Amino acid sequence: MFGKGKERINLAVFVSGRGSNLQAIIDAVEAGKIDALISFVLSDVENSYALERARRHKIDTIFIDPKKYPQREDYERAVLEFLKIRPVDLICLAGFMRLLTPLFIKEFPGKIMNIHPALLPSFSGLRAQKKALVHGVKFSGCTVHFVDEGVDTGPIIIQGAVPVLEDDTPDSLAARVFAQECEAYPEAIRLFAEGRLEIDGRCVRIRKTASS
Ligand code: GRF
Repeated sequence: MFGKGKERINLAVFVSGRGSNLQAIIDAVEAGKIDALISFVLSDVENSYALERARRHKIDTIFIDPKKYPQREDYERAVLEFLKIRPVDLICLAGFMRLLTPLFIKEFPGKIMNIHPALLPSFSGLRAQKKALVHGVKFSGCTVHFVDEGVDTGPIIIQGAVPVLEDDTPDSLAARVFAQECEAYPEAIRLFAEGRLEIDGRCVRIRKTASS
């Protein structure tokens, strides 16, 4: 069982870019749809618009500069040091453009989520919408999953599907998928916060009620 079930959970959101998924999470928390506190937003890009969004909502922000840590593991050690003083129950990757190594992931088993703009396991990695169009699929969508040591390979929590239209471009498909992302990520976090997610091998079971 993951999440706490009854107490309010502390979230960290890791970002690199425009922060539209972060905004959906903030809105869901502020609307009382998720019983969670966004403890802080961490970015590896100093001027990311996501940080600006967090500040507007009076959420603590931290920028950790990758240029100071050429090795990925050294960067992650710096993040881990910060997490020692600001512990969290769940880390949500929301457009965070760094691949996490086992060093970091093993510290948070079943406690890191990611959102990907395709129906995994199809079209993992970058430029997912372009890959979907080139492949000619008739449906695409988004996937919220727990993070494991692969690229977009962890156990799937929630997916949202959209049709692919004849005249779609990567941008028009991305916009349709994004509407699903705004629903799926807050919903996955809500289920975690309610203690209703259970990882069973590759599968995530969603309990009707929190397990005790
Ligand atoms: C989203 O499409 C998400 O699925 C992917 O990166 C994008 C992030 O955008 N992982 P934003 O920074 O949340 O606006």
